[in-house]
Amino acid sequence: MSISLVSSQYASFLVAVLFLLCSPIIKSSFADDQRAIYLVLMEGEPVAFRQSNATPFEEGKTLDPNSLASKAHAKRLVESHDLLLQSTLKIGTYNKIYSYKHIVNGFAIHTTSSQAKILESARGVKLVEKDRGAKLMTTYSPQYLGLPAGVWSQEGGYRNAGEGIVIGVIDTGINPMHPSFAYDPTNPFMSNLSRFSGACETGPRFDVSACNGKIVSARYFSAGAQAVTPLNSSIDFLSPFDAVGHGSHVASTAAGNSMVPVIMNGFFYGFASGMAPRARIAVYKAIFPSVGTVADVVSAIDQAIIDGVDILTLSVGPDEPPEDTITFFTVFDIFMLFARRAGVFVVQAAGNKGPSPSTVVSFSPWAVGVAACSTDRSFPGTLILGDGQRIPGVGLSGPTMGNGLLQYKLVLAKDAVKENGIFPKTPEYVEECQYPEALDPTAVQGSIVICNFSAGFANGTSTVTTIIDTARALGFAGFILVANPTYGEFIAEPIPFSVPGIMVPRLADAKIISDYYEQQIYRDQSGIGRRYSGKAAIGDGRLAHFQGQAPIVSRFSSRGPDMIDSNRNPVDVLKPDILAPGHLVWAAWSPISIFDQILTGQNYALLSGTSMATPHVSGIAALIKQFNPLWTPSMIASSISTTASKFDNRGEPIMAEGAEIDSLYPSTPFDIGAGLINPTRALDPGLVFESGFEDYINFLCSLPNVDPQTVKAMTGKLCNNSFAYPSDLNVPSITISSLHGSRFMKRTVKSVATKTETYLCSVLQPPGIAVNVTPSWFTVNPQGMQDLYIKLDVNEIKDDFSFGEIVLTGSLDNIVRVPLAILPASVS
Ligand SMILES: *[C@@H]1O[C@H](CO)[C@@H](O)[C@H](O)[C@H]1NC(C)=O
Ligand SMILES: *[C@@H]1O[C@H](CO)[C@@H](O)[C@H](O)[C@H]1NC(C)=O
Ligand SMILES: *[C@@H]1O[C@H](CO)[C@@H](O)[C@H](O)[C@H]1NC(C)=O
Ligand SMILES: *[C@@H]1O[C@H](CO)[C@@H](O)[C@H](O)[C@H]1NC(C)=O
Ligand SMILES: *[C@@H]1O[C@H](CO)[C@@H](O)[C@H](O)[C@H]1NC(C)=O
Repeated sequence: MSISLVSSQYASFLVAVLFLLCSPIIKSSFADDQRAIYLVLMEGEPVAFRQSNATPFEEGKTLDPNSLASKAHAKRLVESHDLLLQSTLKIGTYNKIYSYKHIVNGFAIHTTSSQAKILESARGVKLVEKDRGAKLMTTYSPQYLGLPAGVWSQEGGYRNAGEGIVIGVIDTGINPMHPSFAYDPTNPFMSNLSRFSGACETGPRFDVSACNGKIVSARYFSAGAQAVTPLNSSIDFLSPFDAVGHGSHVASTAAGNSMVPVIMNGFFYGFASGMAPRARIAVYKAIFPSVGTVADVVSAIDQAIIDGVDILTLSVGPDEPPEDTITFFTVFDIFMLFARRAGVFVVQAAGNKGPSPSTVVSFSPWAVGVAACSTDRSFPGTLILGDGQRIPGVGLSGPTMGNGLLQYKLVLAKDAVKENGIFPKTPEYVEECQYPEALDPTAVQGSIVICNFSAGFANGTSTVTTIIDTARALGFAGFILVANPTYGEFIAEPIPFSVPGIMVPRLADAKIISDYYEQQIYRDQSGIGRRYSGKAAIGDGRLAHFQGQAPIVSRFSSRGPDMIDSNRNPVDVLKPDILAPGHLVWAAWSPISIFDQILTGQNYALLSGTSMATPHVSGIAALIKQFNPLWTPSMIASSISTTASKFDNRGEPIMAEGAEIDSLYPSTPFDIGAGLINPTRALDPGLVFESGFEDYINFLCSLPNVDPQTVKAMTGKLCNNSFAYPSDLNVPSITISSLHGSRFMKRTVKSVATKTETYLCSVLQPPGIAVNVTPSWFTVNPQGMQDLYIKLDVNEIKDDFSFGEIVLTGSLDNIVRVPLAILPASVS
């Protein structure tokens, strides 16, 4: 139950290691009477969905959480929780952390496993789940997605994009001083938010002026964190302030102001902008540097929905499937289900556990799970050797003095160790440039020093920050961190260096450097370097290049198929849903940067992770919602999926990174979902596939080995209309993890166009299955519906999934794509 950001574990591999060290490790096997947080769901309607409610908080309707009736109902629920606990558990064995009452009736308590066991059989208790902890999953992307010319112009330019929409961000808080979140009094918002009512909770580094109109509300949820660990007041601020940077990064990617200059270490990298720069931000801080709990995250969801957010963005959550329940019936997924029932579009990171199959941590069809890809921008670094060879590398650093034209003496750190110095550390440590006191200052001053990736980096104790400190202390002209054959290649992401430096992660390149260096050095009999004639220069690594194949699915991005349990049994839902940029994303940061020393003092960070991809989709959803205010979450989700692209900038199928460095394979829907999000087309999809709360119930009722009582307990609904198969859910994809013989299913599309359009149905057949769609063409009027009957016949058994798609091609240029992922298991 430790917490980490959903920024990629590769974002900067050194940083990721640091991060792990900072996180408290709490053993998952609790001794019997060790306390933990337990989440409890109760029978009885929550405030938003109570039967007697004249205007229930269903999709499209509104509820006044401050009405007397709402408040009285909330009070009754809290009292019933307290009464249950007092009458069931021993005094002093527990403390209640939260009562959940808005969209789900339940509570969280901190208690022993034996007391939790007693609760399981108490009257009115539907579910008791141990808190698994919640993890964090880490300016150019608007242009890459075609926003300024496309969607933004349709919505009156960036001065208007996202106007009137509130995005709720559940994360590590926000840095309210950041220009991405500044309120511009010369450009006031055009609409007041009638539906939204938040609050501005204050505390350390966060006063009431932080809620400035751009940030419309800010709250924090710390009771869960405080129950499991003593918080450290110098990092775990009890306020919405973001000491990590992750929450600010996510919020600014979704809705940061446009045209904010990105400046780091004095270098101007360009302008940054959120996807929906005029959307408002409601902050829900629920992850603390010391710990993150599901109890705090779901409390934030419960509040955000009743506050009235339009969109909820979750780059946080549990990062493993649950151990003892099916994936859809965790407390976290149940809260997302009821958020969706309340009409809120929920976006979730797919996870950073790729590239192996079945690694997604977004499971449910009611939340959109986002995979991450690169864009066509890169920051190539270059090392120029004295003989003119140019070696590629990585590092956001300025050039060595002379702008790469002046050459400097090249010295291997190992050769510069003080001759008679008695240094207590192993040579492995020393050659990594971690100890300035070990190196001979006269040998390294004004030189470019080669630091070798060795045991300390391999076990996570050495850092690039320390190399930079060493370089600064001893006056290196620059440094090179080279890959070492003993440890293999490493994954290097551009991180800002305040001194000239470059990482050379590939062994072939490292060998060129080593061969050149050895040719140029004169060693005495004992192997000690006596004369160095090797020279080198480091070029500018901060200049963006826009070229090359893109997008490419990032290695770390979690892959499908979706699964029903922790044994990773596949389930008939397509995950991830959609692909968005999540590799090297520039966005706002918090200079305190608790976990990431190399970014301390910075206002921007270039990060990677499905955490970074998720807010791209949230911001685009805000644009769609602004353009089509009456659309339900499933209509927004459908429009994003059916208009996505499975082709890259060469017109070829999008490729995905494999486990090996440089290995690429053609992606499948288990890598990209429907494909790369295309905001311009998503505004006008032609047709949508709708599904609502009752459809999700029918879906749950149709799952194998799930009985109606469980569905009733988890959702309060009866299985009176169960689907024949879970794949009958009316989503814009068809996933069947084991198809025997034939299957017949129906999908229904609804026209959201303003004109009558005729569609032709065609199928890209998945190998091993014959797919037939009837009718083969149809004409649909605005707001009209059309049923599609789909027949699937296995004609050849395969031992893995086959992929194809159904394409509906409209006479007015709308193209509606429905990916197919089917495993043909037997012919009859
Ligand atoms: C929004 O509310 C403020 C304060 O009540 C008011 O001054 C302003 O005119 C309103 N703006 C619009 C566009 O209704
Ligand atoms: C609290 O955090 C600060 C800053 O990271 C650290 O120096 C200090 O040791 C921490 N205190 C405790 C009690 O962990
Ligand atoms: C990591 O490697 C270094 C260098 O070999 C060694 O001195 C150190 O003890 C190791 N640390 C851990 C935690 O394994
Ligand atoms: C780094 O160390 C390895 C193992 O000792 C060695 O093979 C390699 O040549 C060294 N790299 C350089 C650039 O000297
Ligand atoms: C089951 O039937 C009841 C009563 O007709 C209805 O209110 C409820 O919505 C139905 N449930 C589903 C999942 O359709």
